[in-house]
Amino acid sequence: MADRILVAYATRYGSTAEVAGAIGEELRKAGVAVDVRPVNDLEDLSPYRAAIIGSPIYMGKWLPESQVFIERNQQILRTIPVAYFAVGLTVSDGGPETLRNAEASMDQVRMLVNPVEIGIFPGKLESDRLSFSDRTITKLIRAKTGDFRNWEAVRAWAQTVREKIAPA
Ligand SMILES: Cc1cc2nc3c(=O)[nH]c(=O)nc-3n(C[C@H](O)[C@H](O)[C@H](O)COP(=O)(O)O)c2cc1C
Repeated sequence: MADRILVAYATRYGSTAEVAGAIGEELRKAGVAVDVRPVNDLEDLSPYRAAIIGSPIYMGKWLPESQVFIERNQQILRTIPVAYFAVGLTVSDGGPETLRNAEASMDQVRMLVNPVEIGIFPGKLESDRLSFSDRTITKLIRAKTGDFRNWEAVRAWAQTVREKIAPA
């Protein structure tokens, strides 16, 4: 029987994995059976009665592996409640335009599988850990560095999603 909730994520430097972990922890605290897994590690979605899927935003888009995961599993995902979350740095300024841009990163996956809820969270950027090309891009666009993740907002969102996808 499908009785578990999946929290699936893509990540390049680990910050989205930690956001996914915090979402999973919050659901577990509410007594829900949860698996938190990278999208690339998932084969069989039949154990899941709901899925929360997230990606960091790179150059305005989700990482391809999260999109491909949804594309590949769209049939089964359409039969269960799904929520999406995006993690990005521009989001931390909180302006309506940047929020719209962050939301646009999910346009494609929203067309494939319509989510019951979406979340947009500030991320983390540490320039000394970036690949050469990522460091070059962040210098060009003068991206700010630091950890802007808001754990309270992430946990509150997890509660909202739980109430929608797995009401007590
Ligand atoms: C090359 C590069 C491009 C980025 N582009 C965006 C972007 O378009 N919008 C945004 O909000 N954040 C952008 N970011 C910030 C990342 O989304 C943020 O650092 C995120 O927390 C990274 O997640 P990860 O550690 O899971 O890979 C970019 C970061 C890098 C290094």
